[in-house]
Amino acid sequence: PENVGIIAMDIYFPSSYVDQTDLEEFNGVSKGKYTIGLGQLKMGFTDDREDISSICLTVTESLLKKYQISPVDIGFLMIGTETIIDKSKSIKTVLMDLFKDSGNTDIEGIHATNACYGGTASLFHAIDWIESSSWDGRYALVVAADIAVYASGAARPTGGCGAVAMLIGPNAAIVLDRKVRSTYMANVYDFYKPDLSSEYPYVDGPLSNQCYLQALDQCFNLYFDKANRNRDELLNHNNHSEQQSMIELSHFDGIIFHAPYCKLVQKSVARMHLLNNLRLQAHDPSRFDTKLEKYRNVKLEESYNDREMEKLLLTLSSENFNKRTDPSLMLAREIGNMYTASLYACVISFILSDSVENLTDKRLLLFSYGSGLAASMFSARVTKDKAILSRLMKGLTDVQPRLQQRQRVPPTKFEETLNLREKTHNIAPYEPTGDVSSLMAGTYYITDINQKYHRTYSKV
Ligand code: ACO
Repeated sequence: PENVGIIAMDIYFPSSYVDQTDLEEFNGVSKGKYTIGLGQLKMGFTDDREDISSICLTVTESLLKKYQISPVDIGFLMIGTETIIDKSKSIKTVLMDLFKDSGNTDIEGIHATNACYGGTASLFHAIDWIESSSWDGRYALVVAADIAVYASGAARPTGGCGAVAMLIGPNAAIVLDRKVRSTYMANVYDFYKPDLSSEYPYVDGPLSNQCYLQALDQCFNLYFDKANRNRDELLNHNNHSEQQSMIELSHFDGIIFHAPYCKLVQKSVARMHLLNNLRLQAHDPSRFDTKLEKYRNVKLEESYNDREMEKLLLTLSSENFNKRTDPSLMLAREIGNMYTASLYACVISFILSDSVENLTDKRLLLFSYGSGLAASMFSARVTKDKAILSRLMKGLTDVQPRLQQRQRVPPTKFEETLNLREKTHNIAPYEPTGDVSSLMAGTYYITDINQKYHRTYSKV
């Protein structure tokens, strides 16, 4: 199969949000700390009516309906999430309810968990299934979803909630490049969830930021090594001048990241400016940005807390950030961290930021990070075929209107809701109390959890 990648996408996010300026006031922190310091505008959250299975049901059914995909045409379905409600029974089994009426029970794939990385693991597996000898010609589905909540404290404003579903197959709208994926994995305790009785992670914020940037350094260099070794995979064959030059950052039209909070993404683009210059100078010393002279021999592993360098890099990379990355951050600012779904919500934002005409043939560089840690860099190209791209974009036309329809909830209500989730997390029997009328049409919600922990769902 040729041109394997993302054919269709859909996103679900909660109907309620708390405004970050309201939260700054409520938490008594200085004005601008969350909005400017973290770069966040709003944070989506949900009450006890929704859980990880319900948001996966909502987004998956919505995608199948919107793009008129018959359930019998799905041969693989994999879910990435770190929101765990059962140590054995996977969310995938719950989603099989959506295929019941069609009689399709022949669907491979289960789920992947490692912090925010499971969506990317699932996407890679889906692509690999289609490119393998096991492929039977049907589509794959990838669902990345999480309810991101933190205990009260510094990390709480970096929560969020969202689910992205992606239809994977040949002749895609966003085609993944082959032979260039780079990965960095290591054993660290920057963010983890050892307490199964709580939804909250244990998090070392500063360490997690450093690990994110460390993983970025490693993935960046390995990606560009592979990209330059496999130039034919990436380059336009009839553009001769392009074939002579080294593949570097400016090759890409969009640079898209997992977005825990938008300021970290901006700092990552800044760091890439340094990484790219270090690679350029190794090739040709005269190509090093003269404004960076002081850092020509910088030791990457000693530079994570160099605030002076960070400031300079932020300035030097601002144009790059505005052009190549800022368009991808709309949903991240509006909803917050969606863990596994975050990177793919950023892809949706990038697509929503422009027209079919301008997006065709655009090259995208993507960075996925999951604490613990697992990270990958990979790349993709938007199709040249306007009909294929239009189909994907048509399915996303309701995203902006849905964002506008959301309800702004005061921080007191937000705190109450999180306290309720905390108290009732994984108890049985339990009948949720959240107001169903606040949910948008098509949203699945929990009707009941019985004494044997069986969950039943209905739909608005
Ligand atoms: N106006 C503007 N900026 C402000 C203001 C203000 N009034 N007050 C503070 N700031 C800035 C700070 O200068 C700082 O920015 P800088 O680092 O660019 O200088 C920023 O706001 C954050 O403030 P801090 O006091 O440094 O950090 P805080 O204690 O609020 O914690 C953190 C931030 C660590 C991100 C915390 O929210 C957290 O732990 N989040 C969860 C972990 C996380 O998301 N990690 C990222 C990778 S792992 C993952 O994806 C989960």
